[in-house]
Amino acid sequence: MTQSSQAPLPLVVLISGSGSNLQAIMDACADGRINAAVKAVISNRAGAFGLQRAEQAGIPTHVVEHNRFADRQAFDQALAERIDRYRPGLVVLAGFMRILTAAFVNHYRGRMLNIHPSLLPNFQGLNTHQRALQAGAKQHGVSVHFVTPELDGGPVANRATVDIQPGDDAKTLARRILEQEHRIYPETIGWFAAGRLKLVDDQAILDGKPVAQLDKTYP
Ligand code: GAR
Repeated sequence: MTQSSQAPLPLVVLISGSGSNLQAIMDACADGRINAAVKAVISNRAGAFGLQRAEQAGIPTHVVEHNRFADRQAFDQALAERIDRYRPGLVVLAGFMRILTAAFVNHYRGRMLNIHPSLLPNFQGLNTHQRALQAGAKQHGVSVHFVTPELDGGPVANRATVDIQPGDDAKTLARRILEQEHRIYPETIGWFAAGRLKLVDDQAILDGKPVAQLDKTYP
């Protein structure tokens, strides 16, 4: 158990699918590895399996379906209204597959993280494993970053690298990378909860030092 006199950091986690990262985060909270607590899970898809995971853990869930709203702005407003009821110290995007408006992102500036399955700034967007293989990358990985209005473009706070092996396909790569996701996402949230990680100006700062950002290797 982590000994801490501080109240656990309240988290709201946004998902769209399986929620395996959500599970890793809930587990880390439950066994005291990180001083945080998931207060609510919100999905934009009613069928997301992650909702069942949250219910199993006794965590309140909400569905805010994007296709019920006229535009992104209306959806984001409804989403923010739901999130803010829980007064989160950190909003965690865990496989949340919607592009968010600048107004929404700026509202949570410095207190919203995303996990993206690539070594950012390489392979922003979708189908990252396939694209890394096609580009002939020797290494691939996963990044946790602060969310800024640029899609998958915010300062990276933590990353894990995976060597691409001969014979890898998108599935085998995804499996190995997901293992790393489940390790580094709780770790990063733990740093934030402990006050070790911050967004200062446009830099991710860990223990008082800027987290090194990578250069783009692939177009
Ligand atoms: C994870 O691989 C995550 O990195 C990715 O979706 C998956 C969600 O899995 N996120 C993105 O691609 C965001 N652009 P999960 O629902 O099992 O956590």
